[in-house]
Amino acid sequence: LETMKAAVVSKYGAPSGVQVLDVEKPQPKRNELLVRIHATTVTAGDAMLRGMSFAARSVFGLFMGGLGKNKILGHEFAGVVEGVGEQVSLFRPGDTVFASAGMKGGAHAEYICVPESSMITEKPISLSYEEAAAIPIGGNTALDILRKADIHPRQKVLIYGASGSVGTYAVQLARYFGAEVTGVCSKRNHDLVRGLGASATIDYHDEDFTQQGETYDVVFDAVRKISKEQAERALTKRGLFLSVRLSTREKPENLVFLKELAAAGEFRPVIDRRFTLDKIVEAHTYVDTGRKTGNVVIKVADGE
Ligand SMILES: NC(=O)c1ccc[n+]([C@@H]2O[C@H](COP(=O)([O-])OP(=O)(O)OC[C@H]3O[C@@H](n4cnc5c(N)ncnc54)[C@H](OP(=O)(O)O)[C@@H]3O)[C@@H](O)[C@H]2O)c1
Repeated sequence: LETMKAAVVSKYGAPSGVQVLDVEKPQPKRNELLVRIHATTVTAGDAMLRGMSFAARSVFGLFMGGLGKNKILGHEFAGVVEGVGEQVSLFRPGDTVFASAGMKGGAHAEYICVPESSMITEKPISLSYEEAAAIPIGGNTALDILRKADIHPRQKVLIYGASGSVGTYAVQLARYFGAEVTGVCSKRNHDLVRGLGASATIDYHDEDFTQQGETYDVVFDAVRKISKEQAERALTKRGLFLSVRLSTREKPENLVFLKELAAAGEFRPVIDRRFTLDKIVEAHTYVDTGRKTGNVVIKVADGE
């Protein structure tokens, strides 16, 4: 039996319940690719799932391929294709790829199997494994939600929580679609957020964007912290409130779009801290603070 190292949740709750163990290496089904993972991330979603109570897990688990003992979290990754099932036609061993692991996760490991139909595409040379691994979840979420607004050039868009994973991507995409972007985040991140394309920044600690007499065509809450009623005070008459609370779909063409933007230098992931797989508990502890800037990356393979 071949084994691999994986970070499993042996006890839900505190970060210390995550352990690196030897588990069975997965084998690709007919429609799947086997990928050797170089980098993955700990998202806000991973930390939330790990911290869930038994009651919450029995509901959520229905959507997440089960949330039982020794669950492997991790919802995005970049790596090298090691093997393919007989029905796979778009990828070959040796291809470098980045992808979403889908609802059931499994990317906090040395290997993963994903269907060819999942949100997976070739990694551009201009992105490292660590950078590419940080794009699928936050990038697709920001893109899928912003597309609901059909942004036109010179529209005014406010991104609330502009320094998070979804927020840093939303600022760049709104700017790319031609909007005039205002980012709401702590002062320490104002330079970063302006560098991503915001023309104005507001510090939520000492200013209330709804009380400044300014109105926006779109307010996007990227951190789940404001209500529709609050946002409406700062929206134009026909303005639209968007939120990460909205449901999103993983569309393979979205990842291709983001890859092309990244390769053209129009889009980049912000990486806060990097950890090796054996330091996964520290990574969860940091993400739990709710203070990360952009993304937290886990280096799984050596060499980068
Ligand atoms: N719908 C979907 O498909 C989907 C997908 C992915 C994520 N999500 C959800 O989206 C949310 C954001 O995820 P994420 O990974 O982007 O979050 P994150 O990176 O963990 O967010 C952390 C950032 O939020 C900022 N922040 C915290 N409190 C704030 C406040 N009151 N006002 C403004 N900024 C604040 C922090 O800045 P400071 O340190 O300066 O406070 C920090 O930079 C989560 O709730 C997640 O579950 C939804």
